[in-house]
Amino acid sequence: MKRGRIEIIREESGKMTLKISFKKTEDGKADLRVLFIGKKQALSGAAAELDAAGKGFVSHGIKASHFEGALARTLWLVAPEDAGGGQVLLIGLGESRKALAVGDMRKVGAALIKALRTAKTKNAQVLFDHVRLSGDSQPALAAELAFAVTLRDYHFDRYHTDNKRHPKRKALTLTILTDQAAKVYAHWMARQAVAEGVIFARDLVTEPPNHLHPESYAERCVALESHGLKVTVLDEEQMRKLGMNALLAVGEGSARGSRLVVLEWQGHPKAGDQPVALVGKGVTFDSGGISIKPAAGMEDMKFDMGGSAAVVGTMIALAKRKAKVNVVGVIGLVENMLSGTAQRPSDVVTSLSGQTIEVINTDAEGRLVLADALTYAQQHFKPRVVVDLATLTGAIMISLGLEYAGLFSTDDGLAADLQQAGKAVDEKLWPMPLGEAYDKEINSPIADMRNIGTSRWGGSITAAQFLARFIEKDTAWAHLDIAGMAWAYQERLLTPKGASGFGVQLLERWIADHYEDQ
Ligand code: BES
Ligand code: MN
Ligand code: ZN
Repeated sequence: MKRGRIEIIREESGKMTLKISFKKTEDGKADLRVLFIGKKQALSGAAAELDAAGKGFVSHGIKASHFEGALARTLWLVAPEDAGGGQVLLIGLGESRKALAVGDMRKVGAALIKALRTAKTKNAQVLFDHVRLSGDSQPALAAELAFAVTLRDYHFDRYHTDNKRHPKRKALTLTILTDQAAKVYAHWMARQAVAEGVIFARDLVTEPPNHLHPESYAERCVALESHGLKVTVLDEEQMRKLGMNALLAVGEGSARGSRLVVLEWQGHPKAGDQPVALVGKGVTFDSGGISIKPAAGMEDMKFDMGGSAAVVGTMIALAKRKAKVNVVGVIGLVENMLSGTAQRPSDVVTSLSGQTIEVINTDAEGRLVLADALTYAQQHFKPRVVVDLATLTGAIMISLGLEYAGLFSTDDGLAADLQQAGKAVDEKLWPMPLGEAYDKEINSPIADMRNIGTSRWGGSITAAQFLARFIEKDTAWAHLDIAGMAWAYQERLLTPKGASGFGVQLLERWIADHYEDQ
């Protein structure tokens, strides 16, 4: 890759739509310049220079518009010829006494890219050097700005063909001017890796289920070997031999073959070290099976592979930034359909662990998939810790709404670490209980357990209890129920409406903070 320019993000119809680069000096091509203004702060640095060159047009504009520089507020100005002409966009940085944090930069980045896309800007320069240096370091702030812009600019137009109704996104070049360009690059490389992981996850979740089914999903995973990941795919025959009948039962009604995909990242110098294991539910479409779902909203169930997408996205992020850690991702890919071969309510299946399961409701399929994926991960990798992610229950949305994912764990330290990482990246988790009284609910008269509780109450907890039965004694384990988080029904700060990629930032941060050699 060439230095001085980064353009990995994503190919769209062969055209890059967002190019971000960091440079030391202006190159005069910009049709727009961006300035940051602190609240009640005198102009300084590049802003003061531009103001002086244009006979005070910046300070006049600020006064005339009562622009106070509140965080992420914007003001458009036009520069006089003396100051180079073109548009100038002011963005507020908020209270100047408060140290500027990475979280503030995310808000600024979101406001910036919205303004640029609205104004149809082609070439923008961000004058970054006058950003005050208290708080997080300037390179970290500049990299976070680029990160926020990249994520907020996400769009998916693969299946739009009418350029009138859905005009293709135009190319936008964003140059961030900083005299610490080399340091900013180091930060950006790491942040960009995470952005790529998030975007890959969003693409997977957005893809319609006729295009993304277990077989095509597994193929996409195999292509990730180019990032240095080791990818292994188990097909149905291989899984049957091993005894993964719980996972296979879910896919029994589908014309598509089920798959188990294992992604390994060996980034630790002592390659023998036990890995962190990430396990994901990858139901590419959940019709409910014979226990069929109601028609209204069933289309949402294309995102029932959101847990697996978070795992894949995290593996990409770690590989791209060459994280010094060993991590394995295990995802169970199945389609839950109805047909003459579909599993029935009252079937009993024997899982990979040897435990038997009475399938009371074929719509409680995610736990069947995870049961075998969790067992496989523990048997094959003896991981030091296991975290699974799944769009597992509608009940967690009743409990926590669309703000928090549910966090279930038998290990308080692990739960605290995950919750803290979630807070840091704005992917929030809320702790939910586990316990014997809930566990009893899934006992069955004919098998070791049933796949749903005997009552409707606490549905996300009985689901978690089910998973807990597949965790070996003394293994640190956490389960994240992300049913309410995988899809943003409303836009969020760095997420346009639609697939969120929830979990990638959280897992990447958690691994970086607790398992990675620095
Ligand atoms: N994939 C669903 C859970 C879900 C629902 C995720 C809505 C996102 C939005 C899961 O497989 C499911 O159907 N769960 C059932 C369990 C029930 C049958 C015990 C549910 O939540 O209704
Ligand atoms: Mn279901
Ligand atoms: Zn499901």
